[in-house]
Amino acid sequence: MTKMEVKSSLLDNMIGVGDMVLLEPLNEETFIGNLKKRFDHNEIYTYIGSVVISVNPYRSLPIYSPEKVEDYRNRNFYELSPHIFALSDEAYRSLRDQDKDQCILITGESGAGKTEASKLVMSYVAAVCGKGAEVNEVKEQLLQSNPVLEAFGNAKTVRNDNSSRFGKYMDIEFDFKGDPLGGVISNYLLEKSRVVKQPRGERNFHVFYQLLSGASEELLQKLKLERDFSRYNYLSLDSAKVNGVDDAANFRTVRNAMQIVGFMDHETESVLEVVAAVLKLGNIEFKPESRVNGLDESKIKDKNELKEICELTSIDQLVLERAFSFRTVEAKQEKVSTTLNVAQAYYARDALAKNLYSRLFSWLVNRINESIKAQTKVRKKVMGVLDIYGFEIFEDNSFEQFIINYCNEKLQQIFIELTLKEEQEEYIREDIEWTHIDYFNNAIICDLIENNTNGILAMLDEECLRPGTVTDETFLEKLNQVCATHQHFESRMSKCSRFLNDTTLPHSCFRIQHYAGKVLYQVEGFVDKNNDLLYRDLSQAMWKAGHALIKSLFPEGNPAKVNLKRPPTAGSQFKASVATLMKNLQTKNPNYIRCIKPNDKKAAHIFNESLVCHQIRYLGLLENVRVRRAGYAFRQAYEPCLERYKMLCKQTWPHWKGPARSGVEVLFNELEIPMEEYSFGRSKIFIRNPRTLFQLEDIRKQRLEDLATLIQKIYRGWKCRTHFLLMKKSQVVIAAWCRRYAQQKRYQKIKSSALVIQSYIRGWKARKLLRELKHQKRCKEAATTIAAYWHGTQVRREYRKFFRANAGKKIYEFTLQRIVQKYFLEMKNKMPSLSPIDKNWPPRPYLFLDATHKELKRIFHLWRCKKYRDQFTDQQRLIYEEKLEASELFKDKKALYPSSVGQPFQGAYLEINKNPKYKKLKDAIEEKIIIAEVVNKINRANGKSTSRIFLLTNNNLLLADQKSGQIKSEVPLVDVTKVSMSSQNDGFFAVHLKEGSEAAGKGDFLFSSDHLIEMATKLYRTTLSQTNQKLNIEISDEFLVQFRQDKVCVKFIQGTQKNGSVPTCKRKNNRLLEVAVP
Ligand SMILES: Nc1ncnc2c1ncn2[C@@H]1O[C@H](COP(=O)(O)OP(=O)(O)O)[C@@H](O)[C@H]1O
Ligand SMILES: [Mg+2]
Repeated sequence: MTKMEVKSSLLDNMIGVGDMVLLEPLNEETFIGNLKKRFDHNEIYTYIGSVVISVNPYRSLPIYSPEKVEDYRNRNFYELSPHIFALSDEAYRSLRDQDKDQCILITGESGAGKTEASKLVMSYVAAVCGKGAEVNEVKEQLLQSNPVLEAFGNAKTVRNDNSSRFGKYMDIEFDFKGDPLGGVISNYLLEKSRVVKQPRGERNFHVFYQLLSGASEELLQKLKLERDFSRYNYLSLDSAKVNGVDDAANFRTVRNAMQIVGFMDHETESVLEVVAAVLKLGNIEFKPESRVNGLDESKIKDKNELKEICELTSIDQLVLERAFSFRTVEAKQEKVSTTLNVAQAYYARDALAKNLYSRLFSWLVNRINESIKAQTKVRKKVMGVLDIYGFEIFEDNSFEQFIINYCNEKLQQIFIELTLKEEQEEYIREDIEWTHIDYFNNAIICDLIENNTNGILAMLDEECLRPGTVTDETFLEKLNQVCATHQHFESRMSKCSRFLNDTTLPHSCFRIQHYAGKVLYQVEGFVDKNNDLLYRDLSQAMWKAGHALIKSLFPEGNPAKVNLKRPPTAGSQFKASVATLMKNLQTKNPNYIRCIKPNDKKAAHIFNESLVCHQIRYLGLLENVRVRRAGYAFRQAYEPCLERYKMLCKQTWPHWKGPARSGVEVLFNELEIPMEEYSFGRSKIFIRNPRTLFQLEDIRKQRLEDLATLIQKIYRGWKCRTHFLLMKKSQVVIAAWCRRYAQQKRYQKIKSSALVIQSYIRGWKARKLLRELKHQKRCKEAATTIAAYWHGTQVRREYRKFFRANAGKKIYEFTLQRIVQKYFLEMKNKMPSLSPIDKNWPPRPYLFLDATHKELKRIFHLWRCKKYRDQFTDQQRLIYEEKLEASELFKDKKALYPSSVGQPFQGAYLEINKNPKYKKLKDAIEEKIIIAEVVNKINRANGKSTSRIFLLTNNNLLLADQKSGQIKSEVPLVDVTKVSMSSQNDGFFAVHLKEGSEAAGKGDFLFSSDHLIEMATKLYRTTLSQTNQKLNIEISDEFLVQFRQDKVCVKFIQGTQKNGSVPTCKRKNNRLLEVAVP
């Protein structure tokens, strides 16, 4: 714990009082009032010293979270508000650190929260003890044993939806470090009568419902079961479903838990088979059948169920059937067989079912023990957790209640013994005088029941073993004789006259005044239940089963081991096991949890005071408090006490140097607490009255307030001072900065003013100087001019006599001539090249020769062009003429033209003469061929193209097949009227023919060619030279052509780029042919 941490205490923020010992005044009313007040504020735990009272909240409270576990971990018991975790922590730590075996005794009525409390203790211990893979597995197995046992041992009762119908004591074993090693579970008296019959509003054990709801169809079929609860006589139907309980899901949980605990698959299977067999046993029914000797004999009504049971358990059907009809009694050497009547047969059936189930349950406990037992032989520390049925007072109380209540008497006994012993020991340990306390000791009741010679159990056994007719009535008679005078035994028939007229006490009953109240027991069934008889024929039949588990459950059925001695009675068995338990508990340090049920409705928020009052009375809680404070109500070790109250006295505040005890002495003296109110033990201070403690607490509270004020005062003063100092410091800093800033500004202003003045002065000086210099310069110039004129006048005056009148003009002309001469001579050297395309021309040297210079340039250009032309041969001239013609026709009209300028016009691209393929074609043409080229002829119908040889001669235009060279059409040039083309960059052109001419039969031609410009030019020139007529060339993006009879419009549009850069042609309809030009 760090030094700064503030120690808390149970006494902080208490609701009511957290420890009943501090209750003032102490009586039943205040006790219940305190419980109720705390319950209403969700404080369900209250202490009586180290005993925890737990009131069942019947709803989940947020007080069991892992954070809470951490809160309570390693804290002193009284440090935090009361909690079951504080008790668990205390127990676990004294087990681990002080090597003391512990037991946790949880008592209370059915439904008071015992089982929940035991689970909380186990989970707390599991959470705080060691960790690690191995340890975790052990923990997991210990925790998972709970769901398995609850499925088989718990049932819904009117008091509790999950009531444990058996007592359970579990020893958890730890090693020296406090890590869990394993555990041992003991079970006490399973309420087996529940298997065959349940009171109204209650259920059979959970496992039956879980199996039928949760098993798969397959499993049900294997176990020969049906899902419908109503098929089974042993299952009560009025409360087959419990609110908020999912039997099917629980079945899965249980199977999972069985797996974790270590059940093998075949073991689980066997267990379920036994459960199924028990269920089915209930459906066997009997009918009477008269026999010759006049006696009734029972017969099985419907053997089908029997057959299935036998199949399930591998029992010979005849053996089992016989066991239900006969009873063999063996005495010495004799064997006598008698038949069973119907009632006896039913009795046998139910006995078998009960035995089968209760033995299965014991087997389960042993099997779990086998799994969870500690694997090492080293010495172990043990923490026992006892969750045993609480005191039961029903309308009809029978043998079971008797046994249960006996067990509770014993527990109360041990409680009294151990608490008083503890208290006494503490006084001795602390050297404090012990004063005797009066309390009710229930040893006398225990004696009434368990006394070996005349106790009720002893007498029951005696009656069961007695030869002759034995009935419950004879047993009661016997009791009446023997116990009549016992203070706590009441019976109508007893010789004691006290109860002769007590009508609340029926004749067939006896009443015992338990420490927890009077209980009326119905004597009916006592003998039977104590005998717990199973006919030997049945146990033998079971032993003969092929089912290994069932066989092992009935070892007495083995004929080889026939034991004529009677088995111990249920009562004596229980007595013995209770005795063992008590012995076990006595060796351990006890920790008590007293569970209280606040209402009968299982409802949250309801606190039924009379119900609680009853429980407080029989649990003896008030006595408990009295015992606890018989001498001194409150005790506390010196250190925490000094720590808590040291501020109440100047000497001990804030630090006490010296032993804590003397500090406390000084403190108490100073506070003038009366001497008789407290006493000094060895390590603790004992305070006699809670009043004194509360007085201390009050003064402490007041003092704390004063201290708080003091602290506040000092703190506030300190805070203001620091604040002031800080402000002062800041003020100085700010002022310094302010002054600095002002000075800086002033300095800057002075500086800039000085600069301005300086610059004005300098400017004025400079201007003055400039004026002086200018004046000097002008004087100098004036002097020079005057001198020049003066010299001029002198010279003219000197030479005037030598000059003629027109000498000036002559000099001028001479100068001009000289200049022109010089110009031409220079031009001669600067002449550009003779290339007509050379644009260079030397710059003009004199402005007055501008016109001459331009003219000279023009003449020179014409001259060099002529020179160039003069070099041409005839052929070259022809070519240039053609190019010129083309330029005139197409320049600036067709976009294709510029690209044709660089191409030489070759005309005969196809060399028909040389290609032998075209020999026939060549032969057919006599004239000179001007153009021979392959063109695409556009199909008139669909716009697709075919290759054709295009031939132009002097007089004709021919088209021939490209492959064969065969002539397809021949048009005389006189019949060609027009050529049309677009203005765009495509090679399409149409050749229009004269209407009515021979060639025009099929209509005009539409071609495309790479050499359109050349072809059109040549066609134009040839037509002109042959016919003296200018061929009409139409350049338009939309023109009409004649196809047979139709006029079709050819339209050129801007095409998309997707077809590449080739123009495409498409016939849109019979009036339109569209050419897309990219
Ligand atoms: N601490 C608790 N917090 C919330 N509910 C509780 C608590 N203790 C008991 N209960 C409720 O009360 C019911 C009965 O408790 P249980 O422990 O089975 O009683 P007992 O074992 O004494 O017969 C539980 O099923 C649960 O619903
Ligand atoms: Mg329980």
